[in-house]
Amino acid sequence: MTAKPTVLQELPADLNQERLPRHVAVIMDGNGRWAKRQGLPRIMGHRRGVDVLKDLLRCCRDWGIKALTAYAFSTENWGRPLEEVNFLMTLFERVLRQELREMMQEDVQIHFVGNLSALPRTLHAEIERSVDETRHNQGIQFTVATNYGGRQEILQACRAIAVQVQQGLIQPEQIDEALFERHLYTAGICDPDLLIRTSGEMRLSNFLLWQVAYSELYITETLWPDFDRAEFHRALSAYQQRDRRFGKV
Ligand code: IPE
Ligand code: IPE
Ligand code: MG
Repeated sequence: MTAKPTVLQELPADLNQERLPRHVAVIMDGNGRWAKRQGLPRIMGHRRGVDVLKDLLRCCRDWGIKALTAYAFSTENWGRPLEEVNFLMTLFERVLRQELREMMQEDVQIHFVGNLSALPRTLHAEIERSVDETRHNQGIQFTVATNYGGRQEILQACRAIAVQVQQGLIQPEQIDEALFERHLYTAGICDPDLLIRTSGEMRLSNFLLWQVAYSELYITETLWPDFDRAEFHRALSAYQQRDRRFGKV
């Protein structure tokens, strides 16, 4: 099963190119519920979800959005049934292998955030290969959060900084936001301007806790496998209506 054919290749006329988010992050939720509603096993929702993510990435490129981050697997998702976890790990590995050529053609620079060393060895190798091969691409920065947890990310940054203090390389007073950010998995990637969550859940589920401090939130009832360009268009329209005050008046 594949996603619906793509429509809206060009930026819709009602969207202002100048006011697009530079970085969009997505919590791709609702795959299991989507499958259940179709009378299918949960894994079919994940499979369809990959097609939807591929089209969103292409859409961001078509419309001039420079960075997309997708939450693929949380540190909490290890608690799912073993068959589902195994299916997801195999799916990630297969998709990476299959899509590398297209990512090169489409000038995609891929990154991964999360505790990658704890992933299956063959997936880890595929991750390293895709990051290395796409590192000079400049069309869009595509980040996949895999075995990612926001609290864990903050803790590992704290540990790394503590070691530097202990070794006398930095003084505690030198720890500021810029230094801290250099120790996050997302170092070098700007904070998301817009965070989208599908399937209607009103929570962050441990995603980018530091980075979304001032992101605009957009939550839709639509399940991830149904999130198409028309839905993304709606999210961007809503974003462009927002008044981002950043605490000012
Ligand atoms: C999101 O869909 C995908 C992952 C977390 C990997 P879910 O699998 O969480 O789908 P629901 O929320 O159970 O419907
Ligand atoms: C968040 O979805 C994680 C991903 C989308 C990868 P979950 O389905 O795991 O989140 P909860 O359990 O509803 O908080
Ligand atoms: Mg879910």
